[in-house]
Amino acid sequence: MAAAGALLEPWRMIGVAVVGLGGIGRLHARNLAREVPGARLARVVDPITELAEATARDLDVSWSTSYDDALSDPDVAALVIAAPSPLHAELVERGSKAGRHVFCEKPLGLDADLAGRAAASARESGLRLQVGFQRRFDPDFLAAKERIDGGEVGSVRLLRITHRNRRPPHTGDLGPRLGSLFADMTVHDFDTARWLVGEVAEVTAFEAARTAVVVLRFENGALGVVDNTRSAVYGFDCSAEVIGSASTLRVGARQWPVDVERLTADGVVSDPPADHTRRHETAYRDELRHFVECVESGSEPAVGGDDAAAALRLASAAERCVA
Ligand SMILES: NC(=O)c1ccc[n+]([C@@H]2O[C@H](COP(=O)([O-])OP(=O)(O)OC[C@H]3O[C@@H](n4cnc5c(N)ncnc54)[C@H](O)[C@@H]3O)[C@@H](O)[C@H]2O)c1
Repeated sequence: MAAAGALLEPWRMIGVAVVGLGGIGRLHARNLAREVPGARLARVVDPITELAEATARDLDVSWSTSYDDALSDPDVAALVIAAPSPLHAELVERGSKAGRHVFCEKPLGLDADLAGRAAASARESGLRLQVGFQRRFDPDFLAAKERIDGGEVGSVRLLRITHRNRRPPHTGDLGPRLGSLFADMTVHDFDTARWLVGEVAEVTAFEAARTAVVVLRFENGALGVVDNTRSAVYGFDCSAEVIGSASTLRVGARQWPVDVERLTADGVVSDPPADHTRRHETAYRDELRHFVECVESGSEPAVGGDDAAAALRLASAAERCVA
């Protein structure tokens, strides 16, 4: 219970270690330190000594450069993994075997079979595993899901998702750090597609110049189109349309958190979010609140390891189309 959790004594709160302190790991650490009732940030881990030390100093917690320290720390009941994507499945499996609940950033590794193994390992140990598909906690997408499930859209005919970044998340070769564009970026859209419409029967994909188009055919007969780019100069974009037999939903069409238009001599200027952290600010907080509530109550997270493995399988199918 979130409200009660906020009043718990520190020793009764769930101790969490954040593993991997790049941009998203530090964001999760800040949220855990201040915004997640029932949780206590217990430790931060990164192999870069200066980064671990500086983050720990900012947030007043223990730090180390070794994952094993988190796994043997009796203060740590749960892990938030935000290390490079290729390491995720192995880190989750080791975490579960050491008896820790795990929140793991997406994707759950780069291999669907290893992701499935990590999911099974958590399940067999009776531990929670949640994966960082934060869109499932975005207020716009949640409202759309409720309307679809409530029958307001009728039968879904077409799902269109637009998911664009201003630039790649890092310079240099992204493969060893994040995997393909499909595994890193479209994987969010594959998860959204399965969540909103159902299982996907067929995937066709094209990729050129940091840009991709993916066409989906769902088992229930609906169609889907996803467009991705890492070259949207105007900012971060995450919106969708769900076209159904009874009505059409536009999701996040006016998605700016600051929805102000400036009328100037040169035209109308508005402020789209610069990046995912601004667009999904509340979702990143709420997914961790949900995780901690699931650890406290023993209930299954809304998005877990099997969902992550399914999304990765679709990413692999897309990769094969452009190989
Ligand atoms: N859900 C989202 O919207 C979202 C957004 C950004 C990133 N991510 C995911 O989060 C992960 C991290 O992304 P990032 O951009 O912060 O990456 P990053 O490369 O900037 O940071 C990763 C950090 O992990 C550390 N690291 C490397 N090996 C490690 C190990 N064995 N144990 C612990 N830490 C280790 C690195 O030193 C680095 O500081 C990626 O998997 C990415 O896909 C998700």
